[in-house]
Amino acid sequence: MEIDLSTIQGYEQEIDSAKTSDELYQVKVKYLGKKGLISGMNKQLKDVPNDQKKEFGMKIGELRNKFEALFSEKENNLAKSEMDAKLVNEALDITMEGFPLHAGSQHPIMSIYYEIADIFGSMGFEVAVGPEVELEHYNFDMLNIPAEHPARDMQDTFYISDNVLLRTHTSPVQTRMMEANKPPIKIIAPGKVYRCDYDITHTPMFHQVEGLLVDTNVTFADLKGTLTTFIQRMFGSNVPVRFRPSFFPFTEPSAELDMGCTICDSVGCRVCKGTGWIEILGCGMCNDELYRHAGYEPGVYSGFAFGMGIERIAMLKYGIGDLRSFFENNLKFLRQF
Ligand code: DAH
Repeated sequence: MEIDLSTIQGYEQEIDSAKTSDELYQVKVKYLGKKGLISGMNKQLKDVPNDQKKEFGMKIGELRNKFEALFSEKENNLAKSEMDAKLVNEALDITMEGFPLHAGSQHPIMSIYYEIADIFGSMGFEVAVGPEVELEHYNFDMLNIPAEHPARDMQDTFYISDNVLLRTHTSPVQTRMMEANKPPIKIIAPGKVYRCDYDITHTPMFHQVEGLLVDTNVTFADLKGTLTTFIQRMFGSNVPVRFRPSFFPFTEPSAELDMGCTICDSVGCRVCKGTGWIEILGCGMCNDELYRHAGYEPGVYSGFAFGMGIERIAMLKYGIGDLRSFFENNLKFLRQF
């Protein structure tokens, strides 16, 4: 039996006229699929006389190659035109405006706190924290604040029960640190504090940063150097500072640190009440009573402490007149920072 290859006709035309990849694939199935016309020829080879097998085998191979060459050329052309059409139809207008995303930002009080922490961190101070709901013991007794002190009054302080209150300052962290650690201690303690006050310079909740350094041979000169460095890194190296004698039950001697008014350049204005100076923080050498409470051996250690309000520093740094604006959640105000 002979194989008649001339029966396989028309595939060139069929390949050529396929309009889509799918149509083209159907042509491939028709000729090269399992039951395809060219594949069928291979099956018939076994009936061909042996001496003609080789020749017919080659002819089938040629036919197959020719088909596949035409097929892949067409396949490439279709793929390209289909991709072109897709690019046109599915084009994105990348000039279209997007939706604005309001990512939010850091609250100015937090920004100022991180600046403070950076400066003291660079001088070797670590951050310590204590509870906001505090025992009278740590908030007052351990700090040498006597029972009759006005800060203990119900009018000034939020009591939870007889001897539990919302801490009125961050100083109790000092006493907790000393109770739990032997010197050297070198910490700052940031956090919320509470007092019964509400006016242009007071809110019932505000923020303080406490500082404590206890070691051997610490002097008032160390205190002055540390705090002067802090103020000048915060407000500029030309800002004058002065230490004014003051009183705190937990420090002896005590001082208040004033800096030249940044609003009027020390000339005198409403903010500095015409004096050219602004009170910025309280400080002093730790009172020996605190070492005694902590159980330290007497006469061995010395140190200093300080405490400042973060809002006050933020008001001076940003020129803000009303402290309450930090906590009114007015987005117009907050977005300026
Ligand atoms: N605790 C004081 C206050 O709230 C501030 C203060 C003053 C803290 C002197 C100190 C200090 O550590 O030494 O007014």
